[in-house]
Amino acid sequence: MEIKVSQDVKESEVLVINKFENQMTSQELANKYVVEKDGFEGKFGETYLIHTLGQSSADKILVIGFGKKEEFNADKMREAVAKAVKKLHQIKAQKAIFNFDVNCDYGKSAAIGALIADYAFDKYKSEKAHHLDEITFTNFSQEEINEGIIFGEAMKFTRDLANTPAQFATPAKLAEIAKSIEGIETKVFEKPEIEQMGMGAFLAVAQGSVNSPKFIHMKYSGKNPKKKIALIGKGICFDSGGLDIKPASSMLTMKDDMSGSACVLGVMQALAKLQPECEVHGIIAACENMPSGSSYKPGDILTAKNGKTIEVDNTDAEGRLTLADALCYACELGVDEVIDIATLTGACVVALGSIATGIMGNDEEMIARLIRTAENSGETYWQLPMFKEYFNSLKSDVADMKNTGSRFGGASTAGVFLQEFVKDVKWTHIDIAGTAFLEKPQKEFIAGATGTGVRTLLNYVK
Ligand code: BES
Ligand code: MN
Ligand code: ZN
Repeated sequence: MEIKVSQDVKESEVLVINKFENQMTSQELANKYVVEKDGFEGKFGETYLIHTLGQSSADKILVIGFGKKEEFNADKMREAVAKAVKKLHQIKAQKAIFNFDVNCDYGKSAAIGALIADYAFDKYKSEKAHHLDEITFTNFSQEEINEGIIFGEAMKFTRDLANTPAQFATPAKLAEIAKSIEGIETKVFEKPEIEQMGMGAFLAVAQGSVNSPKFIHMKYSGKNPKKKIALIGKGICFDSGGLDIKPASSMLTMKDDMSGSACVLGVMQALAKLQPECEVHGIIAACENMPSGSSYKPGDILTAKNGKTIEVDNTDAEGRLTLADALCYACELGVDEVIDIATLTGACVVALGSIATGIMGNDEEMIARLIRTAENSGETYWQLPMFKEYFNSLKSDVADMKNTGSRFGGASTAGVFLQEFVKDVKWTHIDIAGTAFLEKPQKEFIAGATGTGVRTLLNYVK
């Protein structure tokens, strides 16, 4: 779908206009039919389609309810445009002009909404989904629209990758994609180099799979960098649970266990286009968690890059092991802040469902800034505690800590585990286990990968 900006309302297949509650629309024809005759109120998200039968420059006019004018905001703009695009799919339209009468410049939200709603994962289907060829917005600035397009395309990139089955989205594939991003410097460490770096926790998770691990380090260097940030994405290309194998129903969607790394890849390719004044490192410890004769075993004692030892009490708590070594690596880069994003715990899904992303860390100000950024980006983050007592269940008789501990408070327990590998840096952990992948449609999203984290991290870095 192409998104354009044009000041004049040209002839078009469909003209999309808005109606606030208790107000007339910008179109006489719509006022005559929709408002006066049918009493369409314009409640938020309602749609009304008029066939103009030659009485207008458009074949059809689609009216979108914008709700109460004083309650309208950027989130509503995104959702309303998404609603309109879904309606346009329904009527199999190819081209539409959006002529909204709103004062604020909501161009970025509008473009993001359009791209979220036009998304389908139909690469492997014979019958493709309906897509719009072109939409034109009449009263938004080109800059806002351009930024929205970069954000929307980054989300699509991330969603495509997270939706891709594990048979294709392998550690090697992630490495290949990272290397192919223009404007980003990428180094991929192979197994012997990972061994040399002493990443015993990451390697243990990887050792059960025939697909070898890849440690990926991307770097975006903006002009006059004001800040240096490292973004770490959990990159478990498939999580079977390992020898502590998952039941079938829990394993079903575990191709999505690299959603954190897909997010980081999406963010890195967008940064190369946005060119903000900062330095951003994208880090992914990519591997598969598989059961086999060479798998790591419950009871094994692993040594992470920082020398700390870990007794494995469950091979299904693998994400934190790979992140442990990635965190050690990131802390040696001399960055100001480290953020990790991971489909880390089922406990976070139990606590927050698919409605909110869990967030915790060692710096309250940084956490607050990320929560605010999420709110302004159309995402919802909710802070979970990191009381030191959560470490109690991780105490081990034979090593510095266990990897799993208690099921209760599992998201926080994972958080305090990760903290053991963070040194002298502001750090925030983002648990997207519940929000990265939807079992059924939710708001403007279809079922499947959502690209969660992309908008928030892009806005945060900027
Ligand atoms: N990848 C899972 C977490 C997950 C669960 C992501 C549901 C998305 C949806 C993680 O590696 C895992 O298996 N966690 C276990 C840990 C447990 C063994 C302590 C869990 O949460 O059940
Ligand atoms: Mn697991
Ligand atoms: Zn996992």
